[in-house]
Amino acid sequence: MLQEDERIMRIGVLTGGGDCPGLNAVIRAVVRKGVATYGHEFVGFRDGWKGPLEGLSRPLGIADVRGILPRGGTILGSSRTNPFKIENGVERIKDNLAEQGVDALIAIGGEDTLGVATKLYELGVHVVGVPKTIDNDLGATDYTFGFDTAVNIAMEAIDRLHTTAESHHRTLVVEVMGRHAGWIALHAGLAGGANVILLPERQFDVDQVAGYVEKRFQHQYAPIVVVAEGAQPLDGQMVLANQELDSFGHVRLGGIGQWLAEQLEAKTGKEARTVVLGHIQRGGTPTAFDRVLATRLGLQAIDAVNEGDWGKMVAMQSTDIVRVPLAEATRELKTVPLERYAEAEVFFGS
Ligand code: F6P
Repeated sequence: MLQEDERIMRIGVLTGGGDCPGLNAVIRAVVRKGVATYGHEFVGFRDGWKGPLEGLSRPLGIADVRGILPRGGTILGSSRTNPFKIENGVERIKDNLAEQGVDALIAIGGEDTLGVATKLYELGVHVVGVPKTIDNDLGATDYTFGFDTAVNIAMEAIDRLHTTAESHHRTLVVEVMGRHAGWIALHAGLAGGANVILLPERQFDVDQVAGYVEKRFQHQYAPIVVVAEGAQPLDGQMVLANQELDSFGHVRLGGIGQWLAEQLEAKTGKEARTVVLGHIQRGGTPTAFDRVLATRLGLQAIDAVNEGDWGKMVAMQSTDIVRVPLAEATRELKTVPLERYAEAEVFFGS
């Protein structure tokens, strides 16, 4: 029911960074509750921080969010724009928000987008953050939405690859995303019954991996090796797809799977092939888990805005949706603890 005693706000919503399944579910929840319960108005900013920076917006009402719950991607568009790397970026954002009569912002993003939100909050912008990323590497939240969908996509791919590996007596190396965190590799590898899982959190010994692979062939099975794009060999280097840095200073990872397959083929004498799952992991419809998580985070975000609880990120802790300071959530990446990795090692080579 509409609470008419509250002040009506005009709220901007943006999605930044890599797209991920569940973004539309957040937007829908925010707008549906914001309009129906609080009577607030919304404006959608296009393409992440580029929207408020350049004043690029679109209407965002109930009609605009109908039917978007199961859709991947984001109806608002996304980009990796960093306003702190653009001359007068912060002033331009503040001016555009004032010009469009926007009282508050809901920023939906990962470490980069929410890092910007943290700094803007410290500079006086009314902002609340919502954590998204398939990488699941944001601090202060147990899960980010998008992760479960990515893991399920990767698991299904691994399930399918088992049969080709067995039929052709090949090693199949599956390279998954996750940047500098191994969550996708760990969960997809465990769920898919991988023979070896390699994460950025621990450098691997390629001879040991070759040993696991050979053992698997001795048991008359073919091995699946899941490697995170950020994994690196002992005394080796991270393999980069591209040397260029984006505006947040990130390199583009990719290529470790191919490198590893060549090494394994040379060391074991068995054919080894690579499958790079890439953006398939970010596409398509979100799982039920991600739809529910994204919806609950969106509902909490609009409550925080309604209460003027600025500088917070909504988060999942245990099964609760809570609010934590943005600064706490963006302080450091949440990587896989080595004891979690050790759980998976029981299955290596067997
Ligand atoms: O952060 C999500 C992510 O998909 C990472 O796993 C990956 O390293 C990166 O984004 C790829 O970004 P882009 O689509 O910009 O190449």
